[in-house]
Amino acid sequence: DFHIGTAVAGGGHHVDQPYPDPFFNDEEYRYVLAKEFNSLSPENQAKWEFIHPEQDVYNFEAMDAIAKFAKRNRQEVRGHTLFWHSQNPAWLEQGNFSKEELRAILKDHIQTVVGRYKGQVYQWDVANEIFTDGPNPVLRTGPTAQGGNIWLRELGPEIIADAFRWAHEADPEATLMFNDYGVENINPKSTAYYNLIQELLAQGVPVDGFAIQGHLSTRFGFPGGLQENLQRFSDLGLETAITEIDVRMDVPVGQQPTAEQETRQASDYDRALEACLAVEGCNSFTVWGATDKYSWVPVFFSGEGFATVMTDDFDRKPAYFQMRDSLAQA
Ligand code: G3I
Repeated sequence: DFHIGTAVAGGGHHVDQPYPDPFFNDEEYRYVLAKEFNSLSPENQAKWEFIHPEQDVYNFEAMDAIAKFAKRNRQEVRGHTLFWHSQNPAWLEQGNFSKEELRAILKDHIQTVVGRYKGQVYQWDVANEIFTDGPNPVLRTGPTAQGGNIWLRELGPEIIADAFRWAHEADPEATLMFNDYGVENINPKSTAYYNLIQELLAQGVPVDGFAIQGHLSTRFGFPGGLQENLQRFSDLGLETAITEIDVRMDVPVGQQPTAEQETRQASDYDRALEACLAVEGCNSFTVWGATDKYSWVPVFFSGEGFATVMTDDFDRKPAYFQMRDSLAQA
């Protein structure tokens, strides 16, 4: 029952706006996706701006292709994401909707998307990154420009429960999760989730789990409390998952990582995998990118990169082999 997943690179592949989308164009990449993983996560293709680009237009092309590819290769699909502050289409963020209209828009979106992939997507990140960073995390109710979440701001915290209920109605079998970064350890942000989830469970809201993204850096070191943190959510009867792990490094432009950096990276990946394997109910471990060739990291952080388990040429790195050995022993 254990899922070893990867994000599927791409997004923005529209019939009217073609660009070289890795999933549609890189045969070697497709081969690696099929061969090495039993779970696929759309990196961008199920986000609002791609799957719902106009108010009355859904674009299922890329997500349908991922689902079809997964079926053909006997893989499962992890859904990402239904309720987020980022990558929302302009029509939504800049529209002038009443509260009733926004509620209807969210319900229609969740039920349309989850319903379409019913039985194909085993797990959904229903709510993504809903708490702010820093020592006193609060729900993201601020302006969009400051990382505010339109749903929380306009409809209040109660909308979270509705989002889970609507998703559950659309696919009662899918496991429905919260997902965030910076929640690897027991810390104020993960505790904010721990408290919120307990409140929702007490109200009978269909929350099935808590997912930890795991965007790590060899600069910061491994979050040593990961296993205990997963365990406390498991003790609530929840499923847990590592959903977006990568371990980036500081490497000057034009240079390669040192052997020591690669060893540190391998250790961090493997410790995260071992933590998940050790906790009952932690049943998926997804890397956010299969190869450095398509990693989001150097695009977003200059001077950092090499964060995945395969090089640009798909050569397997020490992290790949160390995790393979751990899985063989599990
Ligand atoms: O769609 C356009 C396309 O039309 C255009 O030609 C192309 C050229 O740059 O850009 C395309 O959109 C980009 C998209 O990725 C698809 O490649 C966006 O500009 C870019 O911002 C977007 O970045 C994604 C990022 O989320 C945005 O928030 C990354 O790929 C994706 O890895 C990253 O993933 C997030 C998770 O969803 C949530 N957790 C954190 C994680 C890392 O930031």
